[in-house]
Amino acid sequence: MRIRKAIIPIAGKGTRFLPATKEIAKEIIPIINVPMIHYIVKEACEAGIDQVIFVTASGKFAVEDYFDRNQELEAFLERNNKLKELELIRQIGSMVNVTSVRQKEQLGLGHAVLCARSMIGDEPFAVLLGDDIVINKNPAIKQLMDLSLKHQGASVIGVMEVPKDQTSKYGIVKGEIVDEKTLRMTGMVEKPKPEDAPTNLATPGRYILTPEIFDILETIPRGAGNEYQLTDAINVLCQRKDVFAYKFEGERFDTGSIPGYLDATIDFALKDPAIRATFMASLKYRLNKYGLTL
Ligand code: G1P
Repeated sequence: MRIRKAIIPIAGKGTRFLPATKEIAKEIIPIINVPMIHYIVKEACEAGIDQVIFVTASGKFAVEDYFDRNQELEAFLERNNKLKELELIRQIGSMVNVTSVRQKEQLGLGHAVLCARSMIGDEPFAVLLGDDIVINKNPAIKQLMDLSLKHQGASVIGVMEVPKDQTSKYGIVKGEIVDEKTLRMTGMVEKPKPEDAPTNLATPGRYILTPEIFDILETIPRGAGNEYQLTDAINVLCQRKDVFAYKFEGERFDTGSIPGYLDATIDFALKDPAIRATFMASLKYRLNKYGLTL
């Protein structure tokens, strides 16, 4: 069955980006001039998703507005003959159908996904978390969809290898090797200490899930951090049905952290021919100013 819908949870408070996130949604913070959430939605759209369900909280209206038409701005750009900008703004406004549901209490990722149950219904769906941007020609979530199709619509969790001392930041999977990129999962644990981690295969927040996950989410107890964890529900699901973990291709930026955000900004600036030269000149000047060498 084709995956048509994606859940993107955005109810988090973005405390790592305070004070910016005091008044604006973390997802709207741009990398250069493009909001972080744009990259997540773009990945979903390029994979063929046609409906995005944001799980939101108060203060997040700008995310929904960003993917809506802005007639006033369009008219202004048209009047001023700014046709390139007009085209860009129109494209964003018609990128995807957006709906949203409120997560009234922040009780964890599992709870956030469960909030979207009535909008998904009885079909498989994607979940993309906004703290990680993955850049690849063939979108990461599409790679998971393709594997799911190959395995009769099974759930697929995107994974990447992380250094062992980082396991406590992620959901960590274990399983039996199917091929060099795929595991048939036997378990998943949320944020284990390095000494307790079964592997170093972590999910950066890309999932294809079958709707059975909702019944499981209804029953799991609170887990790590006293929250309802999606990881714990997937751990139950893989005891009942085939669930695969897949090492997808792509460069991943941890834009939920300041160092990862900076890294993405530098990478995006260097790969953009329109700003590369000025960026490199600034960098050279600033390094010199502070007496630094690379
Ligand atoms: C969430 C998930 C975790 C996953 C991570 C990816 O944790 O619970 O399993 O590995 O996202 O970013 P969070 O970072 O929201 O605490």
